[in-house]
Amino acid sequence: MAETLSLIRPDDWHLHLRDGAMLAGVLPASRHFARAIVMPNLVPPVVTARDAAAYRARILAALPEGQDFTPLMTLYLTEATDPSDVAAAAADGLVTAVKLYPAGATTNSASGVRDIEAVMPVLEKMAEIGLPLCVHGEVTDPEIDIFDREAVFIERVLAPLRQRLPELRVVMEHVTTRDGVDFVREGGSNLGGTLTVHHLILNRNHLLVGGVRPHFYCLPVLKRETHRQALVAAATSGIGRFFLGTDSAPHARATKEAACGCAGVFTAPNALPWLAHVFEAAGALDRLEAFASLNGPAFYRLAPNAERIRLERAGAATPAEVATGAGPVVVFDPGFAPGWHVME
Ligand code: NCD
Ligand code: ZN
Repeated sequence: MAETLSLIRPDDWHLHLRDGAMLAGVLPASRHFARAIVMPNLVPPVVTARDAAAYRARILAALPEGQDFTPLMTLYLTEATDPSDVAAAAADGLVTAVKLYPAGATTNSASGVRDIEAVMPVLEKMAEIGLPLCVHGEVTDPEIDIFDREAVFIERVLAPLRQRLPELRVVMEHVTTRDGVDFVREGGSNLGGTLTVHHLILNRNHLLVGGVRPHFYCLPVLKRETHRQALVAAATSGIGRFFLGTDSAPHARATKEAACGCAGVFTAPNALPWLAHVFEAAGALDRLEAFASLNGPAFYRLAPNAERIRLERAGAATPAEVATGAGPVVVFDPGFAPGWHVME
């Protein structure tokens, strides 16, 4: 049994860093990652190239001394997004992807897309220039049960979009169902899928049995165990189009432990040890590096990082919460130890 693990330094292909009082507090939690796709769902959202440049500057200004981290910026797609603004931002290297939130699907998504037809000119431009579209794949139709929203989104929106614009490079983010896994697996080279650490570990019983656990509440919501198993199979399959996107989504403790608690799990501080735990339990530690460090850069057409990191068994306890200017944020804890620790 190996006592240490050496990996090419990983990247996080879906991360919420927030802004203002919270930003500086949560940035150090992502220090083991070299780069991250930074989500644009601020209030107000990061919609234009100008917004992205300003947000990027705020992130860099808030980075602790010595933290080597490259934020890969995204634009929040709205029905008013200007295709030429997107193209200019991509040409400048300012943005790495555009994010599609169906309006009302999740935290701060009110200005998202209601009608995909309205954004077709932007998507066509992105297909032409090879700029990836990151998709929050859930319908918001109130008639559709929350546990079915991903499968219905595939059927109603994603599959038709892929047929209509096969050249568009699409990342189906935080895949949570077997349906999502199958869709990504059967898609061609222009379709990738990210998987979160918490969806690889938890099922909906963890959220709901023996009391409701607000710190396990996220969107897409946790699914049944058979789906979780499909996610683990995908992550450890060696298929290059599945990669890590933690969707680490910090909210102040008080806003989660509330009558109407926010969705989001703060996994960043301990994401890699948990991931090593999942891969080891699946007998696939040899595939961890591809999932965490190689597949993402390959999809985004970037070079893998040059540095390496090391994990050792057990080691230090992780903090239960992280202090931020917006209040303490509870760190992901499924109730047992990951058994691994990143060596600093
Ligand atoms: C995210 C957030 O808090 O911004 N929440 C979540 O549960 N994942 C939004 C998102 O990615 O859906
Ligand atoms: Zn997210």
